[in-house]
Amino acid sequence: MDKLVINGATKLKGDVVISGAKNAAVAILPATLLIDGICTIENLPHISDVTLYCEILESLGAKITWNTPHEITIDTRNIHSAQAPLEITSKFRASYYLIGSLLGRCKEAVVGLPGGCNLGARPIDQHIKGFEALGAKVDVGQGKITASAKKLTGTSIYMDIVSVGATINVMLASVLAEGTTTIDNAAKEPHIVDVANFLNTMGADIRGAGTDMIKIHGVPKLTGNATYSVVPDQIEAGTFMLAAVASRGDITIHNCITKHLESVTAKIIEMGANVQEDGDTIRVWCNKRPNRATVKTLPYPGFPTDLQPQIGVALAIADGNSTINESIWESRFQYTYELNKMGAKITAQGKSAFFEGVKSLSGSPVFATDLRAGAALIIAGIVANGTTEVHNLDHIDRGYENIEEKFRKLGAKIKRVSE
Ligand code: EPU
Repeated sequence: MDKLVINGATKLKGDVVISGAKNAAVAILPATLLIDGICTIENLPHISDVTLYCEILESLGAKITWNTPHEITIDTRNIHSAQAPLEITSKFRASYYLIGSLLGRCKEAVVGLPGGCNLGARPIDQHIKGFEALGAKVDVGQGKITASAKKLTGTSIYMDIVSVGATINVMLASVLAEGTTTIDNAAKEPHIVDVANFLNTMGADIRGAGTDMIKIHGVPKLTGNATYSVVPDQIEAGTFMLAAVASRGDITIHNCITKHLESVTAKIIEMGANVQEDGDTIRVWCNKRPNRATVKTLPYPGFPTDLQPQIGVALAIADGNSTINESIWESRFQYTYELNKMGAKITAQGKSAFFEGVKSLSGSPVFATDLRAGAALIIAGIVANGTTEVHNLDHIDRGYENIEEKFRKLGAKIKRVSE
């Protein structure tokens, strides 16, 4: 396996272009199963989760043509199986979207229990509650989920928890159902709006995505014959904003939707950074040690949990003591043990972490424990004095396109080495 070798400390400076959103792409790809036709998807991020999804779709009978590294045409007229390959689906979390889309298309689905980053317990009870309300029978056992229905009928579903995955999955299952489905207490993340926009472009009738009540009027068929461009990745943009703050650099981030980044912008201004927005570009620069801050992660439009480790790096070297409360995941502070190896002073307990700001970090071998932890450790390596080695890159490659190349263009001394 590869590792990244980073020589710090570097103030990042320059321009970076944001890729398509991972968490939108991994929902839009399975959503193509609902189409009985051909569609083209642009601005796909070139990441391993996307490659895995394409392999799964092909095994189900989809015909995929790569027009460019970021654009594919998918023909889903000949889907011949509702059983997804268990060994691939159990490798990553977003495979759970196959349940909603196969159920919608074939009225049955067999999918391996989803794997993915270890962030603590990751139940899918709200997904199952939604499928059952639509009329499906769902069984979980022997490492797989089996769902089937004679027919799916629209109904009102109240989500007990605000869940990105359950909101999208129920939306997928109800697009071709008979009648109207209402999802109450829906999640509002930008990728939920993106999946709804994609489905509407292909012929669905979904209203209210981006609010906490989504209405899906079932349609008999999605015909496709359209092109859709994936929304820019909010979390990748936020990662570079926080890299600018932590490295006391000056980064101009292109192809982002500034509205999606409001909670991050507000927090980094509080931390002493400067932010200038101009259309789909955002410039972030910071001339001093970041100020201390208090951060609480929340569903959108709150501060995203997927940027919690990255802001953790800036707080580790901030002037004063900070706290982070993680309200989404049980176990998202594993990266703090790695930062402590680099000289940080962080005490994590349960869903809170206390950061005693230190003046600087020093290089060390560290291990990416999950995708966003990996991004945070790269930023830490760039900021730290001396050499840092980041191991377990497969986590990072799942969700960031060409991350070391993008950081290298900003001045980071970073290289990928085969171990
Ligand atoms: N939850 C339940 N029951 C459910 C579903 C969720 O209790 O049926 C709980 C979870 O345990 C968690 C909370 O609800 O405590 C929120 O989970 P959610 O369902 O929103 O998360 P997810 O859909 O599994 C997506 C992203 C994550 C991101 C979260 C929160 C994808 C593929 N994954 O996960 O992204 O952290 O939403 O925004 O979209 C990442 O990109 O690094 C990542 C982990």
